[in-house]
Amino acid sequence: MAETRFFSNYLLILLLVLMDLAFEVRSVGVNWGTMATHLLPPEKIVQMLIENGFDKVKLFEANDEILTALIKTDIEVMVAVPNYMLQDMSANSQVARDWVEENVTSYTFTGGVNIRYVVVGNEPFLQTYNGTFSRVTLPALQNIQQALNDAGLGNRIKATVPFNADIYNSPDPDPVPSAGDFRPELRDLTVEIIQYLDENDAPFTVNIYPFLSLFGNEYFPVDYAFFDGSENAIKDGDAIYTNVFDANLDTLCRALKKAGYPSMPIRVESWLANKCLIDENAKSIAPGNFERHWGIFEFDGKPKYELDLSGHQENKGLIGAHNVEYLPRRWCVLNPQADDLSDLRNSIDFACTFSDCTPLGFGSSCNHLDVRGNASYAFNMYYQLGNQQSWECDFSGLAAVTYEDPSDGDCQFPVMIAYGSALALQMHVVDIFLAQFGAIMVLFLV
Ligand SMILES: *[C@@H]1O[C@H](CO)[C@@H](O)[C@H](O)[C@H]1NC(C)=O
Ligand SMILES: *[C@@H]1O[C@H](CO)[C@@H](O)[C@H](O)[C@H]1NC(C)=O
Ligand SMILES: *[C@@H]1O[C@H](CO)[C@@H](O)[C@H](O)[C@H]1NC(C)=O
Repeated sequence: MAETRFFSNYLLILLLVLMDLAFEVRSVGVNWGTMATHLLPPEKIVQMLIENGFDKVKLFEANDEILTALIKTDIEVMVAVPNYMLQDMSANSQVARDWVEENVTSYTFTGGVNIRYVVVGNEPFLQTYNGTFSRVTLPALQNIQQALNDAGLGNRIKATVPFNADIYNSPDPDPVPSAGDFRPELRDLTVEIIQYLDENDAPFTVNIYPFLSLFGNEYFPVDYAFFDGSENAIKDGDAIYTNVFDANLDTLCRALKKAGYPSMPIRVESWLANKCLIDENAKSIAPGNFERHWGIFEFDGKPKYELDLSGHQENKGLIGAHNVEYLPRRWCVLNPQADDLSDLRNSIDFACTFSDCTPLGFGSSCNHLDVRGNASYAFNMYYQLGNQQSWECDFSGLAAVTYEDPSDGDCQFPVMIAYGSALALQMHVVDIFLAQFGAIMVLFLV
């Protein structure tokens, strides 16, 4: 969507401004997701990480191929225990020990993978889970940290829980950060977790996504989500908050203070935490088409933006993947001779059910195509997804293979990369780790 593209660019620019303003850039991280049909080989991606100066990476699951590719690099790695494992892990410490053994210890030999965090669950207190994970999160966290401690890794590798930012808020009658506290129904559970994190010198982790607040709520004041908001500033005593991020973070600080942990280290995943490293064509688009276009790289590792992640205004730009192999240069399009188009809509719908047609959507790069162009785009996406097998370019005889690039201006008809077609590993999100100096609290903007 145009808005999406606009916002992504805007967020990146803001992020850079933010770096210049208030923070010393410590390092730049990225989330490595795997929700795409065709995935660049992990070694190529690791190379990209190194060349672009990313030095932290979060894996949504402990993936052997990815972890193996990270061996002998200095990149700090965070591995995640998915929510569906929390129940078993909380009930049985052996499950946690086995997980740590297979997914952590086996990579942490000298010169192995620099694993630094295990994140236990993903936003387990989210309201949509109806409390499914409320009671199992702390015991799972304890079992994981204990297993790390028993393996002699506890000093170096910390277990933590990534919380959603709405586990704390300010009461409606007094919606200012200084009135912030954890939501009453979650307060005891959350404070118990904080206590355990504190005992183990582990940070409190929270996801703050101003962009999603914006997208989900038509009344959300737009400029408040960015860092130059002024019309909707909140006045709180002597403090003035002009953006939702600062207000949210201070609400958390107040809540932690009230809970008795005023100097708890906080890790924040934000802004770019929602920027993917590479587009993921198989992500759910339930929240919006933008879900498949968070990447700062295209599916084939080509950079989309001029982005300087060094924070030194060197304007080096991003470095793409090297020596990427593609399938042959051929495409599947609507046969120009096709005249009975009565079944076309069904064929397009079918193709788009399996492949990614979001560029056809309103405001996107291929939205200007006519109905024949739409059909060609959809057929080609389906054909490339199916590794250009001849039978994937038929559509009741409506489709034909062409060797002439059908791309139309900004609307690119891709040729797929030649790396399998399995829902395996791939890359997601950019995290930016920043450290604020002179404060008690260390803020990692992941
Ligand atoms: C290691 O992690 C992977 C990916 O999350 C998971 O499938 C596997 O079950 C884990 N191993 C153990 C022993 O739990
Ligand atoms: C939560 O509860 C609602 C209403 O009872 C239900 O529709 C929804 O499926 C539940 N979600 C989960 C994850 O259990
Ligand atoms: C092409 O497809 C998009 C997405 O389904 C749709 O919004 C648009 O109206 C289509 N254009 C034509 C001319 O059918």
